[in-house]
Amino acid sequence: MAAPTLALGNYKIPIVGIGTFTVTEEETLEKALDVALEVGYRHIDTAYLYKNEHIIGKVLKKWFSSGKLKREDVFITTKLPWSNNYPEGVEKSLKESLESLQLDYVDLYLIHFPIRTTPLDDKGFQGLQGLPTDHIGIWRQMEEQVKAGRARTIGLSNFNQRQVENILREAKIKPVANQIELNVYLSQNEFVEFLQKNGLVAISYFSLSNPGLKAHWPDKPQVLEDQIVQKIAEKHKKTPAQILLKALVQRNIAVIPKSVTPSRIRENFQLFDFNLDDEDVKALDSVALGEKARLGGLKQLQSHPEYPYPINQE
Ligand SMILES: NC(=O)c1ccc[n+]([C@@H]2O[C@H](COP(=O)([O-])OP(=O)(O)OC[C@H]3O[C@@H](n4cnc5c(N)ncnc54)[C@H](OP(=O)(O)O)[C@@H]3O)[C@@H](O)[C@H]2O)c1
Repeated sequence: MAAPTLALGNYKIPIVGIGTFTVTEEETLEKALDVALEVGYRHIDTAYLYKNEHIIGKVLKKWFSSGKLKREDVFITTKLPWSNNYPEGVEKSLKESLESLQLDYVDLYLIHFPIRTTPLDDKGFQGLQGLPTDHIGIWRQMEEQVKAGRARTIGLSNFNQRQVENILREAKIKPVANQIELNVYLSQNEFVEFLQKNGLVAISYFSLSNPGLKAHWPDKPQVLEDQIVQKIAEKHKKTPAQILLKALVQRNIAVIPKSVTPSRIRENFQLFDFNLDDEDVKALDSVALGEKARLGGLKQLQSHPEYPYPINQE
């Protein structure tokens, strides 16, 4: 069964997709994607920075040449790396991504993060430094990618409301999505409403608080372990992950949970045979913690004028 879709500009985005962050091992990703495509996932989320576009390209080619899928059956999102957040970096990056993905176009191309940074080196994210960043100059080049047919739609990721408003004010081709950290602890209701009112789909990442990276944020609570979430899961005979994903999907938020575990890939797609009732929604609203639940803070960039998150929320 296919996942329901949300309107995305003149196109449609499947409301459930599969994330691929941290999966760089070829056999692992190929197996996960094979399972996901068999199950019915039709949206794959990647990024230049994930260093796995070439693996996704290989899997897609296999599926296309076997005749099991056509290009138009799948929705592919990728993202502009932070170090290429300058006008001339856009076309160059997207062409590289397309080559790795073995595609002529992506369905959605996102500016991954609102700050231009130095390239990632062996110090990883901690070593990043912010550089001056011209959002409108970058956006003009994003628009050129649509005109050239390399991206069907364009959007943002990790932009705050002020930054989205700035792009909306200047855009000739409007952004259709903002991919942001969203889960029942960091529910961002007002921001999501703002995005949806302005024609942007909110896409959630860290919908499950990424338990795989738990060691990076030992002091942060994990949504999957929340008692109320677990109770609601028992009530519906569903898993906590399904409750967390459904809580977002029911707000018309697209989700892209990452898993390389076949049973979880299946589980995360089985969201459409139950509904959360008003009592569940109220209970889930009551567990929201706001900004202090944010995992992806990138605090080393806090002094940059385009740092997107509120500072000192601990
Ligand atoms: N735009 C951005 O800045 C940004 C940032 C982060 C992520 N993303 C995108 O969003 C996607 C999702 O975020 P994420 O991967 O960081 O975190 P996530 O989806 O919240 O969590 C992924 C982790 O949850 C585990 N998991 C998956 N399904 C589960 C289930 N049903 N029960 C229990 N555990 C489960 C996975 O384990 P196994 O794989 O071992 O099963 C993995 O460790 C990414 O993959 C990426 O595509 C975007």
